Amino acid sequence: MSARLTGRVTVVTGGASGLGRAIAVRFADEGAHVVVGDVRRDPVEGGAEIAEILGERGHFVETDASRWDDVDRLVTSAVDRYGRLDVMVCNAGVAGRWSKGLLETTEEDWDAIMAVNLRGTFLGTKRAVGEMLVQEPIGEVRGRVVIISSQHGMVGPPGHVAYAASKGGVVNFVHQVAVDFGRLGVLVNAVAPGKILTGNPAGMRSELLEYSHARTPFHRLGRPEDVAGAALFLASDDAGYVSGINLLVDGGWMAY
Ligand SMILES: NC(=O)c1ccc[n+]([C@@H]2O[C@H](COP(=O)([O-])OP(=O)(O)OC[C@H]3O[C@@H](n4cnc5c(N)ncnc54)[C@H](O)[C@@H]3O)[C@@H](O)[C@H]2O)c1
Repeated sequence: MSARLTGRVTVVTGGASGLGRAIAVRFADEGAHVVVGDVRRDPVEGGAEIAEILGERGHFVETDASRWDDVDRLVTSAVDRYGRLDVMVCNAGVAGRWSKGLLETTEEDWDAIMAVNLRGTFLGTKRAVGEMLVQEPIGEVRGRVVIISSQHGMVGPPGHVAYAASKGGVVNFVHQVAVDFGRLGVLVNAVAPGKILTGNPAGMRSELLEYSHARTPFHRLGRPEDVAGAALFLASDDAGYVSGINLLVDGGWMAY
């Protein structure tokens, strides 16, 4: 079988760890050039750095996805080296210590989550679409944006008010940009992961895992590769007439 992204130029934010890392590796394995932007080089879960794994197939740019100047530098670095931008993956996201219930959430917690999850998605998409509009299309498509949302952009996770609001915003942002730029040949979609095992295993709270197992009809929780496969589909020519969707990769969580 031939590679599905041969020669395509891709950028992945938050690609040092977890889902972004799996997406970057899968894209490179499918023949893409992959430029990864992240605030850190060392994977949260441990193991080899993404730049090492990519080798000649891509490079790393230190990037805070919530800052325009950084995002601009990241995309410019891809275009300078490879001549265009075919696929932008806005994956960088945070929850962690800022993710709490309504009454506990401070203005700082709210802003910390919105800055990366929602503003970061806006900035990455804005920079990417601006680039795509001034390049020649490949076939009928000028470029593709793939945004990592969450099942929690559609239902309320108990006690995670800012995270849920940020991902809900992301889901509607996908609709909006797909509507505004479809005529110009840009396809914009999201992948909504359910519970995927990422991060430092020692840091996973057992009650959260139990809750996720209870909510997930399939017999296991997700793996980063599950999300990478869906992102690959949306980044590839197989998705030539798909735009504005939020593709669940959740083992049936949302069917529950
Ligand atoms: N793992 C899940 O179960 C799950 C479920 C639904 C949605 N998601 C979403 O998937 C995405 C990736 O999650 P993950 O589980 O791989 O997380 P992770 O914490 O394992 O990895 C996130 C990566 O993003 C980077 N990052 C954080 N802030 C950044 C910033 N400002 N700029 C650039 N990079 C930044 C981190 O350094 C890290 O390398 C997030 O948007 C998250 O909300 C994850």
